[in-house]
Amino acid sequence: MFDNKSILITGGTGSFGKRFITYLLANFKPTRVVVFSRDELKQFEMQQSFKHPSLRFFIGDVRDAPRLKTALRDIDFVIHAAALKQVPAAEYNPNECIKTNINGAQNVIDACIEEGVHRVIALSTDKAANPVNLYGATKLASDKLFIAANNIAGASGPRFAVVRYGNVVGSRGSVVPFYHQLLEQGVEKLPVTHEGMTRFWITLDEGVQFVLNSFKRMQGGEIFVPKIPSIRILDLVESISGKREYELVGIRPGEKLHEVMVPQEMSHHSFEFDDHFVITPAIKFFDKNVEYDKNKLGEVGKKVEENFEYHSGTNHHFLTVDELKELDKSSL
Ligand SMILES: NC(=O)c1ccc[n+]([C@@H]2O[C@H](COP(=O)([O-])OP(=O)(O)OC[C@H]3O[C@@H](n4cnc5c(N)ncnc54)[C@H](OP(=O)(O)O)[C@@H]3O)[C@@H](O)[C@H]2O)c1
Repeated sequence: MFDNKSILITGGTGSFGKRFITYLLANFKPTRVVVFSRDELKQFEMQQSFKHPSLRFFIGDVRDAPRLKTALRDIDFVIHAAALKQVPAAEYNPNECIKTNINGAQNVIDACIEEGVHRVIALSTDKAANPVNLYGATKLASDKLFIAANNIAGASGPRFAVVRYGNVVGSRGSVVPFYHQLLEQGVEKLPVTHEGMTRFWITLDEGVQFVLNSFKRMQGGEIFVPKIPSIRILDLVESISGKREYELVGIRPGEKLHEVMVPQEMSHHSFEFDDHFVITPAIKFFDKNVEYDKNKLGEVGKKVEENFEYHSGTNHHFLTVDELKELDKSSL
């Protein structure tokens, strides 16, 4: 699919971007793979470790529309991974988060349409479903922009879809590296905000594969949600520290006890496939003939039941402490 094609990844120096590019270069022969991000040091370090002739590095900010347009010249596929994603930082600096996550999203869309890109996938998060914090709210706005972009692009323009998933094991700034750091510093009891907390759990490799499959499956307008396991926070504490002792620190501003990926209110236009769900657009627009119960790979889905909710606390699949230990070892 990506042989002899050019791919641009906004946020290509991030956790997802680096893993995606590693996979891409090992399994395809792309003409160009463009990393688009702001910090020259992260790009320099990546350049040193990757050293691949197809790789290009563009310094740029998704807030800068003309720069994006230049970077997207002759690009076939775009993955929009750039984001501000720390919940407390977004609460404290709301307008900065809005500028990157919402205005940046619209800039990516406009540049993709102007430059005639073929397919675009934007990464979203479970925090965008029924959001309670600004980060989630900006990602929900971004999701809406990408889905509606199919309308502005017209029948022959680029097709846009969204991939939404939960916590990525071991990604930058996430709880697993944070807990390891605390243990290295000699902390006796790991902090827990609430004993009942659950989260969806996905590895970077699973995220990468799901995005690749979503490119193959997409018609445009879908929010793709993988079926993934959940974890209980106390199981995570035990898997990392070897004991079920913790310090209760109270729920943080903007934090939920559980996460949702397919909200109940979306059940009337969501489909279930073997290994994923698809939330379809609330309104029909660019192509009235798109039927989302069958995707481009020919896989057939069925409507979920009314009031169905894909919820981390009621998920059928929870990882055990031993499974969490294994995952932790392989993600280090
Ligand atoms: N990690 C998770 O647990 C998780 C879960 C669900 C969804 N997601 C979503 O997955 C995506 C990727 O996450 P990640 O974990 O790879 O994030 P990450 O490691 O924090 O990487 C973010 C990337 O975005 C770049 N970036 C930030 N602001 C930018 C801007 N204004 N313009 C251009 N580039 C910018 C960063 O580089 P510079 O700072 O150098 O610009 C970096 O390359 C995000 O959209 C996130 O919302 C992540």
